[in-house]
Amino acid sequence: MRFVSSIALLFLAGLGLATPVNSVRGDVAGTAGDQGKGKGKGKGKGKCNDAPNAHCLHPNDVDTVVDAYVRMLSKWNDTDAQYLADGFSDSSDSINILAGYPLGVPTFPTKAAFIEHQHVQPDNLPLVITHKSPFSCDEIALIWQATFGIAQKQVRGVAILRATKEKGFWQILNIDVEFNNLAYLLNIGGSFTPPGQQQQ
Ligand SMILES: *[C@@H]1O[C@H](CO)[C@@H](O)[C@H](O)[C@H]1NC(C)=O
Repeated sequence: MRFVSSIALLFLAGLGLATPVNSVRGDVAGTAGDQGKGKGKGKGKGKCNDAPNAHCLHPNDVDTVVDAYVRMLSKWNDTDAQYLADGFSDSSDSINILAGYPLGVPTFPTKAAFIEHQHVQPDNLPLVITHKSPFSCDEIALIWQATFGIAQKQVRGVAILRATKEKGFWQILNIDVEFNNLAYLLNIGGSFTPPGQQQQ
């Protein structure tokens, strides 16, 4: 349950805010860099612009943000809280259904809730990132895997990180994550019975 909850928070927040945030930023970027509109709409294509002062992710920024995400879920350290934006949230129905939370709402709606979760039940997941692309001006697509727990099943997940540079450096604003929560369930000691099959 520990792991599932954290991941869920990240995903939900990102989904809810993506459209309005991207619209606003697209307009700003167009004004400042004359890069035109129609980019950075959150479709995961395009690198936004490369103007020196553009507030868009560059490859080294992607590494910084993803590295922070991996540290948070594998071994929480309060010094990494700086990488969580004030408006942070984490959404995951994969977690919500296991944790008994309502579906379609953020698992961790605030930065404080996420940090509290890490203090009480740190995820401690052995996350391995297998993909960190595509990325756009302020979003990064990830694929990760983690093998752990009682069943030692590989859990594979997809996450979208929305980032912000509102404080002059890159932080995670939202996490949206969904993953193989049946494998996760087995790893935390649960079980399930597919129709027509024996209990797993
Ligand atoms: C947390 O990170 C800081 C800075 O890297 C480090 O000095 C400290 O030892 C870490 N704490 C733990 C418990 O790992």
